[in-house]
This record gives sequence, C-alpha cells and structure tokens, in this order.
Amino acid sequence: MPNKKENIENLQQKLGEVLGLERAAQKAVTELISMKLLKADSKNEAKEIQGEASTHEEKIQEVVSIFSEDKDVQLDINKVEESAKETEEKVTQIMKTYLGEEPDTSEALEFLCLAEGGEVSHYEVLSTICENFDNKKAKTTVKSILKEEQEHLTRCITMAKQAVS
Ligand SMILES: [Fe+2]
Repeated sequence: MPNKKENIENLQQKLGEVLGLERAAQKAVTELISMKLLKADSKNEAKEIQGEASTHEEKIQEVVSIFSEDKDVQLDINKVEESAKETEEKVTQIMKTYLGEEPDTSEALEFLCLAEGGEVSHYEVLSTICENFDNKKAKTTVKSILKEEQEHLTRCITMAKQAVS
C-alpha cells in the first residue's frame, strides 16, 4: 500500500496524464480532419467527441485546482503540467508512428480507438487513486468522465467498423 506521499505523487502524475491525453485527443481530431482522413459522419462525430474532450480537460483542471488548495494534499500544479506535457508529446509521437507514410481512414479511426482506450484505462486508474483521498467532488467528476470515455471508445469502435462495412 502506498504511503501518503506516494498517493499524492500518484495523483499528480495521473491527473497530468489524463490532462495530456485530453489535449492530445483534441489536437489529433483537428489534425486528422485537416489530413482529410475523417469525412462526413465520422468527421461530425469526431468533432462532438473533441468538444467533450475539451469539457473533460476543464473539469480535470478544476479537480487539480481543488487538490492544490487542499491543505492536506497541496498538489503541485507545475508537476501536473509537466506530466501533462510529457504525455501529450508521447501521444503525438505515437500518432505519427501509427499513421505512417500513407495513412487511410481506417488507420485514422483505429488511432482514435487507441487514444480512447488509453483514456479509459487512465481514468480507471485515476478513479482508484482518488479512493485514497477524502474528496467527493474529485471522485464523482472522475467517475462521470470515465463513463463518457467508455462511450467515446464504443463510438470510435463503431466508426472504425462502419468504415469497412
Ligand atoms: Fe475521450
């Protein structure tokens, strides 16, 4: 079992990671649309998901600021941002590698599945980390985002299937 200091470090790290994932997801949609890899229905749906990612980013930022003001936790916002930046850069790199030289629509949609799958697993872990803290607002926020991320993943899988049916 992690001690209090480790719990806070885990929280800092994971909040940063989900922030980075949300930012990278929004950038990815913009980029895939500008590469003309998302068309018609999937373009609109990806834009909807992008809008929700922006809301998630704001909600997580709120959680970060609540924990930073909590005398018992004193979350370090700089460390959260460092973790976010590192994650965002990693995802951008993964996207480049995944799409390769001549990406097609299927690859673009499958990359979105990969990104959403990553979000689901990170929010699952973040939700477990939040159990170590007495903060109802953080717990309910993370749980509600997790539910929407599960829907994002399902929607992206459906789009990926539609592209080949
Ligand atoms: Fe998402």
